Amino acid sequence: MKEQVKDKLYELFSLEGKVILMTGAAGAIGRVLAKGMAQAGGTMMLCDREKDGLEELRKEILQEGGKGETYVLDVTDLANIEETTEKIIREYGQIDVLVNLAGINKRVALLEGDEETFDRIIDVNLKGTYFMSQAVAKHMKEKQKGSIINVTSYNAVMMLGGNGVYCASKSGVAALTRSQAIEWAKYGIRSNALSPGHISTRLTAQLWEDPMRSKYMLDRIAMARPGKPEDLLGMTILLASDASAYMSGMMYHVDGGCLAGGQPWEIKG
Ligand SMILES: NC(=O)c1ccc[n+]([C@@H]2O[C@H](COP(=O)([O-])OP(=O)(O)OC[C@H]3O[C@@H](n4cnc5c(N)ncnc54)[C@H](O)[C@@H]3O)[C@@H](O)[C@H]2O)c1
Repeated sequence: MKEQVKDKLYELFSLEGKVILMTGAAGAIGRVLAKGMAQAGGTMMLCDREKDGLEELRKEILQEGGKGETYVLDVTDLANIEETTEKIIREYGQIDVLVNLAGINKRVALLEGDEETFDRIIDVNLKGTYFMSQAVAKHMKEKQKGSIINVTSYNAVMMLGGNGVYCASKSGVAALTRSQAIEWAKYGIRSNALSPGHISTRLTAQLWEDPMRSKYMLDRIAMARPGKPEDLLGMTILLASDASAYMSGMMYHVDGGCLAGGQPWEIKG
């Protein structure tokens, strides 16, 4: 029976034979997802601005018996996107999965936000996702197959103070995901959004270190704990694998019950 289970899970969820391009791979969530996807059989095209982080990650993936290559890539540089995508196609012949994970944030009140901060966040989070997807989808179209995973956020639907530009960028990514799903279904391309809740990483360290904000967030998580990057791996493998063959255009929240309403009031009697 154990062998039968293994065979079935392998058939559904294995990433073997898939070339997976991940942006923001050197970040806290990227590192965990890249290693997990490599362990599930994927050949990882690790892209980020941070060269050292990428090299270290690749070394760890290879040590664990996985496959991976690194590409220093800035998702706000359209020429760099084109050049990297073409290089991967030349070397590997295909890109089966694109994970648009690169993202930034800078918290500022709406009345105080400046143009530079606005442009920077939108450029990385929304424009980067748009053009990265466009470059890769051209090749997926030729193969008539592909899966795009856009990383959005719980903040695409539930706002946090001082987070206006980030929230707008992630809502934009959620809308873009649905547009990709309807325009590219005829090319065999699926597009879904992975929406993490409150995950404890360096991007959110400022919030978790503040006692008032940390209590605010914990009260809103039904499971009463911050998420870990590892908590996002199951959904990512599902969306990348053939197990999600009929799933497209949706946003999948992995948030410990945050959007469900968080922790309930104490009910007496
Ligand atoms: N941490 C959370 O709680 C949380 C919650 C919801 C969504 N997310 C999203 O998950 C993703 C990863 O977040 P994280 O917590 O791992 O953050 P992180 O800062 O650890 O990682 C982000 C990575 O993106 C890279 N990056 C930034 N700008 C880039 C650019 N122009 N080109 C290429 N790479 C660039 C950074 O170098 C970094 O390695 C982000 O899109 C973030 O918005 C995070």
